[in-house]
Amino acid sequence: IPVKPFDLVIFGATGDLAMRKLLPALFRRHAVAQIPEEARIVGVSMSEHSTEEFRELASNALTQHIPEDELDETLLASFLDRLSYIANDVTDVNGWTELVDTMALFPDRIRVFYLAVGPSLFGAISRGLASAGLSDGKARLVVEKPLGHDLDSAKKLNAEIGDVFNEDCTYRIDHYLGKETVQNLMALRFANALFEPIWNAQSIDHVQITAAESLGVGTRGGYYDNSGAMRDMVQNHLLQLLCLIAMEPPHDFNGDAVRDEKLKVLRSLKPLAGHDALENTVRGQYRATETSPSYVDEAGNPQSKTECYVAIKAEIGNWRWSGVPFYLRTGKKLRSQATEIAIVFKKPPHSVFGNLSTPLNPNVLSIRLQPDEGLQIELMTKEPGPGGFRLHSTPLDVTFAEKLGDEFEMPDAYERLLMDVVRGDQTLFMRGDEVEAAWQWIDPIMDAWEASGVAPETYDSGSVGPTASVEMMAKTGRRWRKI
Ligand code: BG6
Repeated sequence: IPVKPFDLVIFGATGDLAMRKLLPALFRRHAVAQIPEEARIVGVSMSEHSTEEFRELASNALTQHIPEDELDETLLASFLDRLSYIANDVTDVNGWTELVDTMALFPDRIRVFYLAVGPSLFGAISRGLASAGLSDGKARLVVEKPLGHDLDSAKKLNAEIGDVFNEDCTYRIDHYLGKETVQNLMALRFANALFEPIWNAQSIDHVQITAAESLGVGTRGGYYDNSGAMRDMVQNHLLQLLCLIAMEPPHDFNGDAVRDEKLKVLRSLKPLAGHDALENTVRGQYRATETSPSYVDEAGNPQSKTECYVAIKAEIGNWRWSGVPFYLRTGKKLRSQATEIAIVFKKPPHSVFGNLSTPLNPNVLSIRLQPDEGLQIELMTKEPGPGGFRLHSTPLDVTFAEKLGDEFEMPDAYERLLMDVVRGDQTLFMRGDEVEAAWQWIDPIMDAWEASGVAPETYDSGSVGPTASVEMMAKTGRRWRKI
C-alpha cells in the first residue's frame, strides 16, 4: 500500500548509515512502488557536493548493497531522480536557507528529518530546524543510537530534542524492532491462545537471549572502544527483546500501549549494583589467534578494558516473572553468527516412564532472528521402533523463508521502520522514558565494573566466549544453548 507523499531529509547523507542502510531500504520500497512519485529525498551534509555527485555516490552505494538482479536500470534512474543534495554546515545559523527554500515548495507534505549523524549534533540540528521554521509541530525527527552514554547524557539528549520536537513526533530507532522475527514475537504471543497461559514463572524455567556475532569490531574500533558491548547491544537491542518477551499484553497494538508495557518491564528489572552486579555479569574480550588480531589490536588501545562480550543474569521483579532468570549474552568474534531467543520451559514434574536412558529434556521454544529466521519447539517424542520405550528430543521447526518465502518478502528492518515513520506509527520506536529506564538499569552495572578495576576475561576468537560465562550458568545447573 503506497504511503502518502513525503519529503525526507537525511542529515549525514554521505555517511555510512545513509549509504549502507537508508538509501538501499528506500530503493527497495521505491522498487515495489510503495513510495509515491512526488516523494523527495534530500541529502544534507557538510561536504561540498552537487546533486549530480550525490546521485553518483548513491548509485555506487546501491550497486554495492543491492543484489544485481534487483537493480533494474530504469528503477535505479527513477530512484536517483528523487534525490537532491544540499551542503549545509548545521552549526552555522546562516546555513539553512537552501533547505528552507527546498522545503517551502511543498509546505503541506509529511516532513521527516533523519539525523544519520553523531548524537553531538542532535541538539544543534534540532535547534537549527526550529530557528529555520522547519519544525512546524508536525514534522518528524528520526534519531538512532547511541542515545546517550549513560542516564545523565541520555536525559540531556532527550531534553535537547524535546525542546523542539514533541514526543509524538520523535522516532528513536532500534533496528532490532524492525526485524521481521521480532515483530513475529508479538504475533506469536498475542495472536495465538496457545502460549500466553504458560508464559510465566509457573511454566518457564528461564529465558536466554543471545546475539552472537562472528565478526570482530574491525574498523569500528574507535567508536566501539568508547562504547563496548553493554552500550552497543545490551542497553538497546537485548533489553528491547527482553521487554517484548516479558511485557503484559498491551490493550492495543499501537505506539503508546506497547511502549507503556515495555516501560513497566524495564522498571521492574531488579537492580544490579556493586557485588550483585559483579556476581551476575561476565565481561569478555577476544584475544589474538594466529590468523586474527585481538580486540585491543583492532581498537588500537593496548590498555583497553572495554568489553566485547557480556553475559548477564537479569531478573524481573513482578508477579509474572518472579524467580525466572533472563540470561542475556552478546559478543563479537564468537563461534557463529546467531541471534536467538530461547524460552526454556520447566521439565515435566514426574516421569511416568521410569528410569529412562534419555533424560526428559525441557521443552524449548526458540525464536531465531538470524540466520534462517524462524521458530522451533523442541518436543520429547518416542524413538521409533518396536524395542523398549526410548524418548527422543525432536524439533518442530518453522523456517519462515521455507514456509512463506514464496508468498512474502522478508524486508530489511530499515524498510519497515522508514515507512512506519512516514505512516506516523510509533509502535516500533523507543520512547524517551524507555531509553532512560534502560540506562537506569545499566549504569550501576557499569559503575560496578569500573570500581572493580578488573579487566574483562579474554577468550579465543571463534569460541563460545569467556569461561566465566559458562560457569555462571553451570552454577545453577543450566547451560547456554549451542551457538
Ligand atoms: C548494531 C551494533 O547496532 O547492531 C553493531 O552497533 C552490531 O555492533 C549490530 O554488529 C548487530 O546488528 P544485526 O542486525 O547484524 O544483528
